[in-house]
Amino acid sequence: MDDAAAPDSGDAILARLAQLRAADLPVHGGRTMAYVYDSGLGGLDDLAARAQAAFAGVNGLDMTAFPSVVTLENDVVRQAARLLGGGPATAGTFTSGGTESCLLAVLTAREHARRTRGVDAPEIVLPRTAHAAFHKAAALFGLTPVTVPVDPGTFRVRPQDVAAAVTARTALVVASAPSYAHGVVDPVQEVAAAAAERDVLCHVDACIGGWYLGHRRLAAGIAAPPPFDLSVPGVSSLSVDLHKYGYTPKGASVLLFRDAELRRHGWFAHASWPGYPVVNATLQGTKSAGPLAAAWAVLQHVGTGGYVELARRVHEATAQLVDGIADIDGLRVLGEPDASLVAVAADDPGTDPFVVADEMRLRGWYLQPQPAHAGSPANLHLTVTAAVADPARIAELLAELAAAVPRARALGPATVDPGVAEVAAALDPAAIGPAEVALALEVAGVGADGTLPQRMAPVLAVLQALPAPLTERLLPEVVSRLYAG
Ligand SMILES: Cc1ncc(COP(=O)(O)O)c(C=O)c1O
Repeated sequence: MDDAAAPDSGDAILARLAQLRAADLPVHGGRTMAYVYDSGLGGLDDLAARAQAAFAGVNGLDMTAFPSVVTLENDVVRQAARLLGGGPATAGTFTSGGTESCLLAVLTAREHARRTRGVDAPEIVLPRTAHAAFHKAAALFGLTPVTVPVDPGTFRVRPQDVAAAVTARTALVVASAPSYAHGVVDPVQEVAAAAAERDVLCHVDACIGGWYLGHRRLAAGIAAPPPFDLSVPGVSSLSVDLHKYGYTPKGASVLLFRDAELRRHGWFAHASWPGYPVVNATLQGTKSAGPLAAAWAVLQHVGTGGYVELARRVHEATAQLVDGIADIDGLRVLGEPDASLVAVAADDPGTDPFVVADEMRLRGWYLQPQPAHAGSPANLHLTVTAAVADPARIAELLAELAAAVPRARALGPATVDPGVAEVAAALDPAAIGPAEVALALEVAGVGADGTLPQRMAPVLAVLQALPAPLTERLLPEVVSRLYAG
């Protein structure tokens, strides 16, 4: 950009943006199996973009000045509550995404525990498979995470382990419906009962799967998912992202509460300053109504019947994918997926899933590597969205996978020098300085400017071999190198 030159035309500016996008993963076409949710429905993105543009400047900071925001939000929250077991008392908040919904659920529970039970050193009980957003919430809001193992075969938390972890200081118990990593639904009924028995709140994280599972159970002829929503006794809040299986533009999630009395504990009000009186229902101040309007428009347009049909297609495609993987020599599915997320591990030590991912990426497919952790082996995460859900597309994916495995075997697994792993294990992440960080990143194959090699398996192998606290020290350094300054 040259400030002194004549301004570029709108077309030139948009062309530059399009050029930048060319280096990104595609958001359409069904070959990017994480991060993006494509309905495959013609015209939907255009409708959403127009709704978003019409409301981009509307500020949800002051709902009295912009009453349209209240109408749109009430409509969206009501629709989510109807789908997910809410009743007349159910209250909700529209948020910017799953992470913000989870953060607010935790903040609300912390304040509820403090005000109603006098808990001043709160804990949060988290299955090991709970989303990282809850650890972020614990770190930000000063709760101690109490992590509970999951069954090594099913990857579901065991209710008795949750019950044993609850103490007088527990502010919140979390269950996933489903978990991101393995796509399985925790035993919500039993977990919520264990929490309720001790008068503790229970949050169901249905961020990724709630919209899909809620509509799938309306489809005739498909077995219902295990009970997971607000109708389950003891469930006090539930998060569901619209920017996932609602196929709305990013920046859209709903956090439901059993009632408005619980919801108010997470709100922030401030009148002790000389400016405008503040009431914030979310973590944001100024809040564009664009994502809300886009979500409202998409929900209206697709409608319940449309979502049920999309859910049916996703269900059939997931079954086809799971069956097909079982037939590929060298690969296996972890656990029994309850939803539309599939974790694919290797059957034999000669097949490195991360090398399979590299092979797939070279052929235009993005499968997300998930490093080994606490009984969950290294695997690849596949999110099946409606755009992938075509029998021919799944057959193509399976054929590509079947061909990638022998190539990965021929290349061999990415390995880490045992000496390097030993030195790394001895490092104190809190004490290492810039020189050690630079060396560790060089060993991992990360460039001085944060660039990563085309083949990621060797980098992932190093990250996987490092203790998590060291990885957590290094990851921000990698990202920091990417940004200016
Ligand atoms: C189960 C679950 N919870 C929370 C989140 C966080 O959502 P977001 O990425 O929208 O912040 C995700 C994201 O995939 C998720 O799968």
